[in-house]
Amino acid sequence: MTIGQTIAGMSHAIKNIAGGLKGSSFVLEQGIELENREYLKQGWEMMKGNINKITKLSLDLLNYAKTTKLDFKLENPNKPVREVMQLMNHRAKEENIIFKLLPCMEKRLVFMDCDAIHNCILNLVVNAFDSFNKIANPDQIKNVNIIVERENNNIVYKIQDNGCGINDTIKKSILKDFITTKGMNGTGFGLMTTKKIIEEHDGEISFKAEEGKGSLFVVKIPLRSKV
Ligand SMILES: Nc1ncnc2c1ncn2[C@@H]1O[C@H](COP(=O)(O)OP(=O)(O)OP(=O)(O)O)[C@@H](O)[C@H]1O
Ligand SMILES: [Mg+2]
Repeated sequence: MTIGQTIAGMSHAIKNIAGGLKGSSFVLEQGIELENREYLKQGWEMMKGNINKITKLSLDLLNYAKTTKLDFKLENPNKPVREVMQLMNHRAKEENIIFKLLPCMEKRLVFMDCDAIHNCILNLVVNAFDSFNKIANPDQIKNVNIIVERENNNIVYKIQDNGCGINDTIKKSILKDFITTKGMNGTGFGLMTTKKIIEEHDGEISFKAEEGKGSLFVVKIPLRSKV
């Protein structure tokens, strides 16, 4: 990834949010002018959404551009996942998503930057949750599972959903470019940042996905006793 491409990706993301803010202020202005409470409420909801987006983007950018070394410590590999579960349980309930964790039973600590890995898993779980936004069938049972296990000399995190899946054209680029299919709601920074952090752990990220069936993202972090 060249600096030019990175800046292009950033600009696109910022442009999206700026567009969203413009849209929200238009709706708010209409609400004030027409003294219409519905418009005011709608404009304010839009505004809040955009504030969340710019907050997330600035965090992703900071992570992406992080020049300081990660803070490696010996950690329980289930810890960052449990934090993500806590954070996302509310949204899971609200959106009727069956959200489950199969933790790693082995009591082995892993050298990692727990906050950074937390961000990676959060990005993957948010993507898994979002994958139900495009599902036409309202009766579909929505499952998101996180599995943490030891496989040879790695700790493996699997994030699995039965959402919309990923089409073949997009598949080629999601780990290489700032690609989003979420229009105003995405920036395409999530997976790029995630990949960068995982590679800084000497790990790997891969995925399998089938359109209409779901996706499985696999993160492997090597076990080692020191950095
Ligand atoms: N679990 C998933 N199911 C379906 N599509 C996915 C999944 N994970 C990623 N994608 C596809 O990959 C694209 C890129 O994901 P990425 O997380 O990088 O960006 P984003 O989610 O669009 O925006 P954000 O920057 O807010 O994360 C998504 O827009 C989506 O099309
Ligand atoms: Mg994302």
